[in-house]
Amino acid sequence: MLKVENFLLDPALPISLIGTRWEGQVNFMNCAWFTRLEVSPYLYGISIQQQHFTHKAINRNKVFSINIPNTELIAKADAVGLTSGRDHDKSNVFDVFTGEYENAPMIKGSLLAYECDLVNAVELAPHTEEYPRAHTLFVGKVKNIWADKSAVQDSALRFDDMKPVFWTWAPRCYWTIGARKEEAFNIENKKLIPPK
Ligand SMILES: Cc1cc2nc3c(=O)[nH]c(=O)nc-3n(C[C@H](O)[C@H](O)[C@H](O)COP(=O)(O)O)c2cc1C
Repeated sequence: MLKVENFLLDPALPISLIGTRWEGQVNFMNCAWFTRLEVSPYLYGISIQQQHFTHKAINRNKVFSINIPNTELIAKADAVGLTSGRDHDKSNVFDVFTGEYENAPMIKGSLLAYECDLVNAVELAPHTEEYPRAHTLFVGKVKNIWADKSAVQDSALRFDDMKPVFWTWAPRCYWTIGARKEEAFNIENKKLIPPK
């Protein structure tokens, strides 16, 4: 193994687009730091820099959406990750629809879109000179799930052709899913570790 001192070496992470609204302005930002946190309640976490426009909107509205783009949306997803709602109106970047929450707009054509209620917010570091890019972990409870019709079949996702987007910092690049590998939760694999 090689010991590395590079904070950019994350594995490829799936990206999401976080939807909010601020005084009529629809806003989306690119967010790779998101993850499912709990089975029941159905919780997702998103880590959002405290300076972002999105941060302000979530704090006030207490709702947001998480949209999972496919590869056709890469350029637009990148664009909303390079521009802030403070000085760019991103309302018309995507074809938008609204579900239950006016302040959690969603993107038509997303593979999946989750409408979330904010249930917790954890400041991961204080926003000081030492941590100018401090993030808050917003925990959202999924209220409604929307799926692109073509991405779902028999209550499962069609991974063979749905093309979710992954991102790496080094190299700076977007990727999509590769070859299907082994079965997950395969009881046979348990045999690799004998019981005590
Ligand atoms: C690929 C990619 C992933 C990103 N992931 C995150 C993230 O997880 N958290 C975050 O706070 N910012 C992330 N960003 C940066 C924000 O998307 C960006 O700063 C955006 O302009 C913020 O928009 P807003 O000010 O309108 O909220 C990411 C950007 C890119 C391009």
